[in-house]
Amino acid sequence: MSKRIIRFGVIGCGLMGKEFASAAARWCHLTSVNFEPSIVAVCDANPAAAEWFKEQVPSVERAYADYRELLADSAVDAVYCAVPHNLHAQIYVDIINAGKHLLGEKPFGMDLEANAAIQAALEVNPDVIVRSSSEFPFFPGAQQIVQWVKEGRFGKIIEVEAGFWHSSDLDPTKPINWKRRIATNGEYGCMGDLGLHVLHLPLRFGWKPSSVRSLLSKIVDERPDGRGGVAPCETWDNAILACEVEGNGSRFPMLLSMKRIAPGHANTWFIRIQGTAFSAEFTTKNPKQAASLPYEPGCPQAWHVVDAPYRSAYDTITGGIFEFGFSDSILQMWAAFCDEVANGEKMRQPFKCALPEEAAASHRVFTAALESERTGQTISIDW
Ligand SMILES: NC(=O)c1ccc[n+]([C@@H]2O[C@H](COP(=O)([O-])OP(=O)(O)OC[C@H]3O[C@@H](n4cnc5c(N)ncnc54)[C@H](O)[C@@H]3O)[C@@H](O)[C@H]2O)c1
Repeated sequence: MSKRIIRFGVIGCGLMGKEFASAAARWCHLTSVNFEPSIVAVCDANPAAAEWFKEQVPSVERAYADYRELLADSAVDAVYCAVPHNLHAQIYVDIINAGKHLLGEKPFGMDLEANAAIQAALEVNPDVIVRSSSEFPFFPGAQQIVQWVKEGRFGKIIEVEAGFWHSSDLDPTKPINWKRRIATNGEYGCMGDLGLHVLHLPLRFGWKPSSVRSLLSKIVDERPDGRGGVAPCETWDNAILACEVEGNGSRFPMLLSMKRIAPGHANTWFIRIQGTAFSAEFTTKNPKQAASLPYEPGCPQAWHVVDAPYRSAYDTITGGIFEFGFSDSILQMWAAFCDEVANGEKMRQPFKCALPEEAAASHRVFTAALESERTGQTISIDW
C-alpha cells in the first residue's frame, strides 16, 4: 500500500516530544494505514534537548533554536508542539498562521484569553487541522465505553465520574518544575495540566457542565529549587469539580477530579458512567479490564468484568490476547491525527483526537472552577 508521508517538525523536545519520536519510530506496529509521520525538523530553546533527536531519530535533518525558523521550513507539513503552557498561545497561533497542521499539547493556552487567541487564529485558517493531545480514550477499555455510549446503552444517566490522578508530588523532596509556577503553568494548576484528559470523553459525549462548584487544594507549599534552596509551589495540586449536566431532556451530576497528589496512584485515568439500563467503568489502574452492569427491571445487578482484548481504533500487529499500555495509546492517538491529515473526513475510523472546541469548552469549565473557588459559590456556565 502506498503511504502518504507527513513531514513533521517537533517544537519542544522534552518528555512528550520524545514520546512522539518513539511512536513514529514504531509505525510498522500499525497495519493497513496509508499514512506515516516522518520527523524532519526539531526545535528546542535548550540545544541539549534537540541533541537527543539528532542522535536517536535518523529522519531529523535540521535542528533549530527558534521555532520561527522551523515554521519557515517549507519541508515541514505539520507540527507537534509540546512546550510549557505560557508559550502555547504565541507558538500555536504562529503555527496555525504558517499554515501547518498542529497536534498541540493541552491545555491549549494557559488561560481563557490565551485559548481565545488560538481559537481566533483557527477561524481565519479553517483548512489547517488542529487537534489536542489526549491519549487515554484510545485504551481499548475506553474505546469500549465510547461504543456503549454511541449505542445508547445506558438508559437515563444517573451519574458520571471521571478523573486523572497522580501521586509523585506526595514526595516533598521532588524538585520544583515549571508545572508548579503560575507564570509558566497558569493559575489553573492541576486543571490545566490534567483537566482536558478528564473532560475529553464527557465533552465528546455532549455532556457540558451547566454549573460547577469546585474544591481546589494546595498541599505541598514549597519544594527544593535544585540549587540548594527551596521555592514556593504556587499552583493548585488537586481539584474536585462537582458539575451538573443538563441537556437533551436529561440532568445528572458529573464529578470530575484532577489530582497531582492522590496517594498510590501513578497516571490513573478513569471514567465511570451509571445509568438506569447499563453502567460501565474503565480505569488505567486495571488497564486490561472493562466493567459493565446491564440491568433489566427486577433482575439481579451484577458487574461483569472482562479482560478487554488489545483492540483500539487502529489495527496493529499485536494479537488480541496481549495487553495494551501507555505508549500504545500514544501511538493510536498519533494514528488518529495523521489519518485526519491524510484522509480528512474519510479517515479510517471515526474517533478523532480532542478537538479545539473541546479544549475551549474545558477552559470555560476551569475558569468557572477558579471563580467558584474564589467566591465559594456554584458558577453557572451558559453554552
Ligand atoms: N499528553 C500527555 O500525557 C502529557 C504528559 C505530560 C505533559 N504534557 C504536555 O506537554 C507539554 C510539554 O510538557 P512536557 O512534560 O513535555 O515538558 P518538558 O519540560 O519535558 O518539555 C518542554 C520542552 O520545551 C522546551 N521549550 C521551552 N521553551 C521553548 C521555546 N520557546 N521554544 C522551543 N522549545 C522550548 C524546553 O526546553 C523543554 O525541552 C505541556 O503542554 C504539557 O501539559 C502532556
